[in-house]
Amino acid sequence: MSLPSSVKLFEMAPRDGLQNEPGAIVPTATKIELIERLASAGIKHIEAASFVSPKWVPQMGDAVDVMAGIKRQPGVVYSALTPNLKGLENALTVGVEEVAVFGAASEAFSQKNINCSIAESLTRFEPVLARARDAGVRVRGYVSCVLGCPYEGEIAPAKVAEVAKALYEMGCYEVSLGDTIGVGTPLAAKRMIEATRQQVPIEFLAAHFHDTYGMALANLYAVMEEGVSVIDAATAGLGGCPYAKGASGNVATEDVLYLLEGLGIETGIDLQAVIDTGYWISGELGRKPNSKVALAKGVSG
Ligand code: HMG
Ligand code: MG
Repeated sequence: MSLPSSVKLFEMAPRDGLQNEPGAIVPTATKIELIERLASAGIKHIEAASFVSPKWVPQMGDAVDVMAGIKRQPGVVYSALTPNLKGLENALTVGVEEVAVFGAASEAFSQKNINCSIAESLTRFEPVLARARDAGVRVRGYVSCVLGCPYEGEIAPAKVAEVAKALYEMGCYEVSLGDTIGVGTPLAAKRMIEATRQQVPIEFLAAHFHDTYGMALANLYAVMEEGVSVIDAATAGLGGCPYAKGASGNVATEDVLYLLEGLGIETGIDLQAVIDTGYWISGELGRKPNSKVALAKGVSG
């Protein structure tokens, strides 16, 4: 067992973070500023928007304006969710270079989240991947509920592996494994990765852990021991999924960076700049960052 020497961090706050904000919709200008601050902190992969139905997720209804409004920094990838062809076509109008499709390892969650079965979702993703390939756009894939489902409870690692394999074989360059409701524990996370890596090479797997039960960092350490070197996280621990009641945000980027720094693992990201960004966006939302490291270190200046 050895840990990776460097980790690719995929920032989720502008999408997974803000999609679940209750109350007033966050202004487009604030979203754009968040994305630009995150890029300035050295984050190279940012999920910036979501081209889903605005009836389903009104918080992401300004995806076109957000994507068109950001000042892009060279070397930074700004990605967006596209559940179907309509989403992808909208994303292409604003020049995306990377998109993501999202499926699940749970039938019930698939129905609640994207209104179709797992098999139907995979069929729906095929033309999205084909169109993206024609347009020269990379596609990431998600599998939700990899360590438990709010409707079905336990999920078999073999089911996660099966859906991840389908996404990978369809052409997703990376498959992100979502503990959507943050119920996993380290041994379960390891078992899930062990099953999945038999179908998808480990370097193409990412860990996307929500922190509802406070286990996300422990789970990340466990899967890094299995060779996972791509981690999804959200600054200030923002977010959750609107179709997973009670789920809290992704593991905080600040906490992941502190862990990685302590382990001597490279990310190229400025922790203090992320902490400052976390305080700023949390202030915009009227609260404190949901990151222990941010609270301990405090804002600079
Ligand atoms: P549907 O209602 O079955 O779609 O929704 P439809 O094809 O029947 O279309 C119905 C209406 O929606 C039509 O409009 C379409 O034009 C419109 P109408 O004719 O009624 O006026 N429509 C769209 N509009 C804008 N953009 C689109 C789009 N597609 C259809 N892309 C659909 C199916 C997938 C669209 C819907 O269920 C949906 O938007 N779901 C999104 C749910 C979501 O965003 N969930 C959160 C993200 S996933 C997540 O957080 C998990 C993750 O973080 C990993 C983890 O933590 O596990 C990724
Ligand atoms: Mg998520």
